[in-house]
Amino acid sequence: MTVIPSLPFVRPALAALLFVLGAAAPGVGRAQSRGELLYGTHCLACHSTQMHWREKKQVVDWPSLRAQVRRWQAADHLAWGDDDIEAVAQYLDALYYHLPPPSPRAVVSARP
Ligand code: HEC
Repeated sequence: MTVIPSLPFVRPALAALLFVLGAAAPGVGRAQSRGELLYGTHCLACHSTQMHWREKKQVVDWPSLRAQVRRWQAADHLAWGDDDIEAVAQYLDALYYHLPPPSPRAVVSARP
């Protein structure tokens, strides 16, 4: 009787491959990944409990979200550039805020 020894390993390998492909799928943008990395490195220590996100409500729109990110990176003397602030703001919006205009840049580029 012939048994193909590799057969039991085919399915887990395929699942792993699909998982990797799924993680790289469109929708998970570069900016978001960078924002997640920056936020996880510098900000998560204080924000892990999520307590302030719901109670304080200092963030009500994109300008106030950017202002808070700018304020907090400054508080930690991180000297982030606009791109870093934008990346973290977009990451936080995707995670918590879900602010109305999905992309402020789209609004800016719109013409009458
Ligand atoms: C030392 C602890 C600490 C660190 C580090 C910290 N935060 Fe905060 N953050 C807080 C606290 C406490 C609040 C709520 C009270 C306040 O605003 O003073 C807050 C509020 C915020 C808010 C507003 C929340 C809301 O919904 O109103 C944002 C946005 C924010 N932080 C982003 C960041 C970012 C981005 C970083 C990393 C650069 C960061 N924070 C680092 C403690 C911290």
